[in-house]
Amino acid sequence: MAEWVKGKVTQVQHWTDALFSLTIEAPVAPFTAGQFAKLGLEIDGERVQRAYSYVNAPDNPALEFYLVNVPEGKLSPHLHVMKPGDEINIVSEAAGFFVLEEVPDCDTLWMLATGTAIGPYLSILQYGQDLERFNNIVLVHAARYAADLSYLPLMQALEQRYEGKLRIQTVVSRETVPGSLTGRVPALIDNGELESAVGLTMQPDNSHVMLCGNPQMVRDTQQLLKETRQMTKHLRRRPGHMTAEHYW
Ligand SMILES: Cc1cc2nc3c(=O)[nH]c(=O)nc-3n(C[C@H](O)[C@H](O)[C@H](O)COP(=O)(O)OP(=O)(O)OC[C@H]3O[C@@H](n4cnc5c(N)ncnc54)[C@H](O)[C@@H]3O)c2cc1C
Ligand SMILES: NC(=O)c1ccc[n+]([C@@H]2O[C@H](COP(=O)([O-])OP(=O)(O)OC[C@H]3O[C@@H](n4cnc5c(N)ncnc54)[C@H](OP(=O)(O)O)[C@@H]3O)[C@@H](O)[C@H]2O)c1
Repeated sequence: MAEWVKGKVTQVQHWTDALFSLTIEAPVAPFTAGQFAKLGLEIDGERVQRAYSYVNAPDNPALEFYLVNVPEGKLSPHLHVMKPGDEINIVSEAAGFFVLEEVPDCDTLWMLATGTAIGPYLSILQYGQDLERFNNIVLVHAARYAADLSYLPLMQALEQRYEGKLRIQTVVSRETVPGSLTGRVPALIDNGELESAVGLTMQPDNSHVMLCGNPQMVRDTQQLLKETRQMTKHLRRRPGHMTAEHYW
């Protein structure tokens, strides 16, 4: 049984009408970058809980989560109206296998995210441990609109910090803006635009691809990489080239 502890919201950042970040202070157990916690609230006498990836590095006690308000959802509209000082329940033990320990060595590590799923990569990159095994890292954030690229300033700061090892690329699907590719991730891999924009190739002999977020993006991209690049899912018992986490 998961152990729940009480936390306190210390900061709420509203990026757009729907996207926001919560910072929480809570006595949680240590976690591994890439893992998720569960947040819970009592709503009409019932505990409603959902999974949220840590954005902060494990050595940062300010626990940060990046969320989208799904208006018809059960929990996110309640989290969306939280204010500093509010109490929130959080599981003490983080969970999940979307962590670097599960990723084999390779030349280029691709980190592909849609929407709020940029979080686990930001935790991994802010922590900065166990990345010597990769010559190149590519962080790709795909969102509907440029205004949804909430963590672009942090992505840019990380790109500077990694001094050439990390390349960042944004993708927007519903408008055309300078600096971002336009379209969806699988199409931009298929037509070569993503690799040409980044200046690196995505092939089974040089790359590992992490995928996180919209489950249809994850499935479509995996299918494409399997059919056109002969890339396979990575399992402990059968090493491959793709590691994924679905958000719903
Ligand atoms: C391992 C894991 C980690 C997760 N981490 C995050 C996170 O860091 N941030 C976050 O916002 N959500 C995250 N989620 C999703 C989160 O758990 C909730 O599903 C989400 O907050 C919506 O909750 P809800 O009760 O309001 O609606 P729900 O009834 O749970 O979901 C309703 C619908 O909303 C859509 N939806 C759910 N989550 C998202 C999302 N993140 N982006 C776009 N559409 C979505 C889907 O269509 C889903 O069917 C994660 C899920 C998993 C499994
Ligand atoms: N983002 C906002 O500002 C906003 C505003 C109001 C409400 N919401 C709520 O938030 C939820 C959506 O959040 P979101 O925009 O962060 O997530 P999302 O719908 O998963 O979209 C994020 C990105 O993933 C892309 N995508 C979707 N399916 C894909 C596929 N099969 N292959 C490749 N890429 C794919 C989208 O492209 P497409 O554009 O082509 O789908 C978009 O670029 C909805 O439930 C909505 O109610 C969001």
